[in-house]
Amino acid sequence: MKIMVTGGTGFVGSHIVDALEEKYSGSDILLFVRDMAKAESRIRAGLTVHQGNITDRTSLNLAIDDFHPDVVIHAAALADDWAPLTRLMEVNAQGTLNVIEAMTQLESSPFLIHISSSSVYPRVASVYISEETPYGPYGNYHKSKVAAEKIVKDAIEKGVIEASILRPPNVMGSRDFTHMAKISNAMKNGKFPMIRNGKAKQTWVAAEDLAQAVLLIISQQRKAKGRIYNVKSFEITVKDLYDQIASRLDISKPPKSYPYFLAYSVGFFSEILGKLRGKRSTLNRYRVIKFSRDRLFDDSKIRSELGYQPKWSAQETITKTMDWLQKEGIV
Ligand SMILES: NC(=O)c1ccc[n+]([C@@H]2O[C@H](COP(=O)([O-])OP(=O)(O)OC[C@H]3O[C@@H](n4cnc5c(N)ncnc54)[C@H](OP(=O)(O)O)[C@@H]3O)[C@@H](O)[C@H]2O)c1
Repeated sequence: MKIMVTGGTGFVGSHIVDALEEKYSGSDILLFVRDMAKAESRIRAGLTVHQGNITDRTSLNLAIDDFHPDVVIHAAALADDWAPLTRLMEVNAQGTLNVIEAMTQLESSPFLIHISSSSVYPRVASVYISEETPYGPYGNYHKSKVAAEKIVKDAIEKGVIEASILRPPNVMGSRDFTHMAKISNAMKNGKFPMIRNGKAKQTWVAAEDLAQAVLLIISQQRKAKGRIYNVKSFEITVKDLYDQIASRLDISKPPKSYPYFLAYSVGFFSEILGKLRGKRSTLNRYRVIKFSRDRLFDDSKIRSELGYQPKWSAQETITKTMDWLQKEGIV
């Protein structure tokens, strides 16, 4: 089985590559990367690395024509809430189309595992979100992820490729420079906004569990083809997440708690201020909603169809992530 990975130098992709390395021979894994320096340790471990860019069809054509993968895991994306829509579309939507078109140049097209995101769903939902929940992207990044999915679905429907789509919620683990790093640093600086007493429940997937879901799809392509899957490890309230991180950081002072409407108004005005100053605001309406509303996902489909069983609890995942953040001096 020959497997090509895009985005293997990123947070999610690197965990997928770790899991692949445990199961497959290094020479059967191809990393398609922008920056060869970031892939140095993988090259030393015997993996094949091809330099390119998903916005450049020729580089994708060359990599795929040379390596002839059986499976392509597409985890490369511009994961940035603040990037302009045109750039997000170029990388996330057009980049996905480029990957698919390059795959179809082979006589027998490889199987695609597309790493999508729960951001394709509406931000506010009062019930568990299943794969049947209609799209409801909140911002530009979310819109670009919907556009990418539609490209994959269209290719499946036209019989151009066989593929599965995975929709992870927030991913937690080592090598993440966003979620937990930002939350921990905001807490350290006394700037973490506890809204509605932190009652909101969030859903996370441990990076290792997500990687296992990818392995399950690879080994059960026939069952998984044409399917979309939610995947998760645990649910945790904002308050419990705060408390666990606080105990790691020796923060004893309780956070300031704000009512929702006050936090939302502050978020709104700091967004405007940020735009006027050309700076990213720490608090915005999206973050206020994110930390004040339940966001729950139904992952029964991947459990029943592919036998997915998350192995990582909240406590283990937080501990491992904090270990890494502290070791790297990020927090
Ligand atoms: N992190 C989460 O919580 C989360 C949640 C749900 C879904 N996801 C999805 O998971 C995927 C990976 O996200 P991530 O969090 O791992 O982001 P990340 O750490 O920023 O990694 C992004 C990866 O994509 C590569 N990349 C970006 N633009 C590229 C281009 N034009 N050509 C080739 N490679 C390019 C990056 O390469 P460089 O290393 O060179 O920058 C990096 O390897 C995305 O599809 C994202 O939507 C992530």
